[in-house]
Amino acid sequence: MGKETDHLWMHFTRMGAYREGSVPTIVRGEGTYVWDSNGKRYLDGLAGLFTVNAGHGRAELADAAAKQAHELAYFPLWSYAHPKAIELAGRIAELTPGDLNRVFFTTGGSEAVESAWKLARSYFKKVGQPLRHKVVSRYLAYHGTSMGALSITGVPAFRAEFEPLVPGGIKVPNTNFYRAPEHGDDYEAFGVWAAEEIARAIEREGPETVAAVFLEPVQNAGGCFPAPPGYFQRVREICDRYGVLLVSDEVICSWGRLGEYFGAQYYGYQPDIITTAKGMTSGYSPLGAMIASDRLIEPFLADGQMFAHGITFGGHPVSCAVGLANLDLFEREGLVGHVREHAPAFRATLEKLYDLPIVGDVRGEGYFYGIELVKDKATRETFNAEESERLIRGFLSGALFEAGLYCRADDRGDPVIQLSPALTATQQQFDEIEQILRDVLTRASSLL
Ligand SMILES: Cc1ncc(COP(=O)(O)O)c(C=O)c1O
Repeated sequence: MGKETDHLWMHFTRMGAYREGSVPTIVRGEGTYVWDSNGKRYLDGLAGLFTVNAGHGRAELADAAAKQAHELAYFPLWSYAHPKAIELAGRIAELTPGDLNRVFFTTGGSEAVESAWKLARSYFKKVGQPLRHKVVSRYLAYHGTSMGALSITGVPAFRAEFEPLVPGGIKVPNTNFYRAPEHGDDYEAFGVWAAEEIARAIEREGPETVAAVFLEPVQNAGGCFPAPPGYFQRVREICDRYGVLLVSDEVICSWGRLGEYFGAQYYGYQPDIITTAKGMTSGYSPLGAMIASDRLIEPFLADGQMFAHGITFGGHPVSCAVGLANLDLFEREGLVGHVREHAPAFRATLEKLYDLPIVGDVRGEGYFYGIELVKDKATRETFNAEESERLIRGFLSGALFEAGLYCRADDRGDPVIQLSPALTATQQQFDEIEQILRDVLTRASSLL
């Protein structure tokens, strides 16, 4: 193995690929760009991992971290509090939709999802509905990797090695309109069908056993499936009908990614819980949260009651200080409005790629897009497993990076390229992304 990877075990990485060669090593970032250890520049088309929303190289976020570490590097939120957690929870509660006023900090997204499932179970026990423990989520959706979150995740390849998982993770169809099994000619009717699939699953399982439905505003895995018109409103009605909690998993879709602070605001629905992480600090320090409605904390406010759950580094003072500085920066620069203003141009620029025969579907919202690649545009025929492997790992991932674009070429579902640049990106970056994709995808077509 190459010297630099003798000891490092990378995440979701085929380590054997680096037995001989060297691993790409990123050493510096500035704005929407990063540089590798050879000094080569790349457009960061994924904001790290849907995370660096404010862009790289923000001195004020680094300074906020340093200042807090000098003042109080660490104290837990276990029976004690510290000022930055109190202040950040208050700032977040002002931004969330409706009465999502309780912020339970974690260190990342999986823990936020795990916490939400545990809260749902504990809440229902406390209010006299102890059978409610199951969760409904969508096929292919990624909700994290810890055992509870993994049971909510619907990516078969990520689950198989770890079975048996936590019981009670029920799966329903996602909102892939490009490959709609029903109502392929009517987006709204398709949305009603997809929402009603949730109702059918709840009925099948027994409503008295179902605790929560976990959905992303725009589903990431599979390639940025937006919600059809009316989908979330229908899901909300269904959850109310069956007394089930609606959890909006916004680990990616909050903090401006869709042009609102929260994805639920973008689509106009009211969840019972929001789970978030990533852009909450723009990645300058790890932080996540489960944000719950007033109703959900109610039973835990009674004498002698508590939510028996906690994480040493959840709500770390340094991360909370960075979270506050990140919000200051967002407000001062109007980053959320910037996304709203430039999102149509991002879409229009990516849609230029439709003239390539390999580009089947360009979909997403805000600064969050997937481009589905197809073998035959007219029939929408996709690639088989071997072709997909050759296309994604054999060519695209390397060729895009080589061409100076860091993004994600993925085949957890059908093959897609995913883009999620920093919220500061403008037409200059959109054009650069389009040009690199055009060149690399044209070459990919000729290899097929
Ligand atoms: C929607 C969603 N939920 C949960 C997670 C897990 O977050 P983390 O990797 O911070 O544990 C992710 C990560 O990408 C995600 O996209």
